Amino acid sequence: MISGLLLSQNLSKVPLHPASIKYLKLGHPWITEDSFTKRFPQKDFFLIGIDEKNRQEIALLINDHEHKNVKARLWSLNKDEWRNGLNFQEDLVQRISNALAKRSSLKLLTERENVYLINAESDLLPGLQVAIFKDQLLIQYYALFWKKIEPEVLPILFQQIKIHFPELNIQDTWIQERNFNQDKKIRSLNGSIQKDFIMVEFGLNYHLRFNDYYDIGIYTDMSAIRKQMTPYLQKGNSLLNLFCYTGAFSLYGLSLGLENVVSVDLSPKYLTWLDENLSHNPSLDRTHHTSICLSCEKALVKLIADKNEFDSIICDPPSASSDGQSTSSAFKAYEKLLPMLLEVLSSKGTLLVFLNTHTISWNKFEEKLNQIISTTKYANQVNIGKRFKLQEDCSPLKNFHEGDYLKGFLIDFKNSIKR
Ligand SMILES: C[S@@+](CC[C@H](N)C(=O)[O-])C[C@H]1O[C@@H](n2cnc3c(N)ncnc32)[C@H](O)[C@@H]1O
Repeated sequence: MISGLLLSQNLSKVPLHPASIKYLKLGHPWITEDSFTKRFPQKDFFLIGIDEKNRQEIALLINDHEHKNVKARLWSLNKDEWRNGLNFQEDLVQRISNALAKRSSLKLLTERENVYLINAESDLLPGLQVAIFKDQLLIQYYALFWKKIEPEVLPILFQQIKIHFPELNIQDTWIQERNFNQDKKIRSLNGSIQKDFIMVEFGLNYHLRFNDYYDIGIYTDMSAIRKQMTPYLQKGNSLLNLFCYTGAFSLYGLSLGLENVVSVDLSPKYLTWLDENLSHNPSLDRTHHTSICLSCEKALVKLIADKNEFDSIICDPPSASSDGQSTSSAFKAYEKLLPMLLEVLSSKGTLLVFLNTHTISWNKFEEKLNQIISTTKYANQVNIGKRFKLQEDCSPLKNFHEGDYLKGFLIDFKNSIKR
């Protein structure tokens, strides 16, 4: 049982790199691989991280020596807790309960069936993500140690879900281990091989597929942002959805009454899924929608040549994007994309550009956008405004930049004048 784990164990003390200690104290919960982590014992579940100089105890960590680069994750900085014999099981129950109580108070299930119930580090449950999709629970381990204590963790999780979400009737639970190897399959506790089903987000039906492909058909970290986009989408009549995937932003735009929605993606498969999603929503007017199966760069060249303009544009490239021939980072790709985006943005329009990586900071992304804009004929005419961040059920932990991976900026023309 995990309840006795701490008490029965003689905890190993491991010296930490001075930089790790500094960052732990600032709220960063990871110990990444360095010369110090090479000396961590492999068999221990918990470790006490210490300062080598003065032998002071700094943090209670969970060991993850099998992980490629995150060798341990913070459990507690409160020395009293581990010195007085922390009951890990009780602590786990409390943390899971806190995470679920927070989601329950947000009342998100009233407007969408896809919600993150536990968001790893930001819920002090490092490397553990849990999301519900209608009646299917998806558990994702980003840290290997969760797998080791799975038989103890799952009953706690199910019991707490019953307490905080009595309305949920979970039919199956899927477990996916992320980032450990190339095997992207997920396993179901019921032994199901695959699951296809329809799920509702903001009144719209989406066809989801568990265990068919790596992605299941909807990005739930974008759900709150879709809602936040509502007033901007409603200001105009048209939407260009670039890197549209299965079309969640496009369907949402159509549901708000937009009469010209254009979706662009390089993948014919995802555009077929988009098409299916449209058929699952007979209330939407399909004649107001067009799909373009091209790289966004090529699609923009064509849209400019045809003198198209849009009142809203959403550009959400994957961190590394391919046009079928070459691969480039989204950060670099904006050098070509952004000038063209300004070209097809109407004078009163709003453009939302995203970057999907923690490796580039908000300031660096904004600087890059400013620098690109300064090279266009629209220099001095453009505002870079509001930031669109991960929020609601998936808001990141403060000072944990790896968790703050999604960055969006709203761009428009000053005083709605474009010359
Ligand atoms: C991060 S997903 C976008 C998610 C979408 N914003 C949503 O909320 O549903 C990225 C998409 O970009 C597409 N893609 C990748 N490279 C591309 C390119 N060069 N041109 C067009 N689409 C591309 C992929 O097929 C994938 O569907």
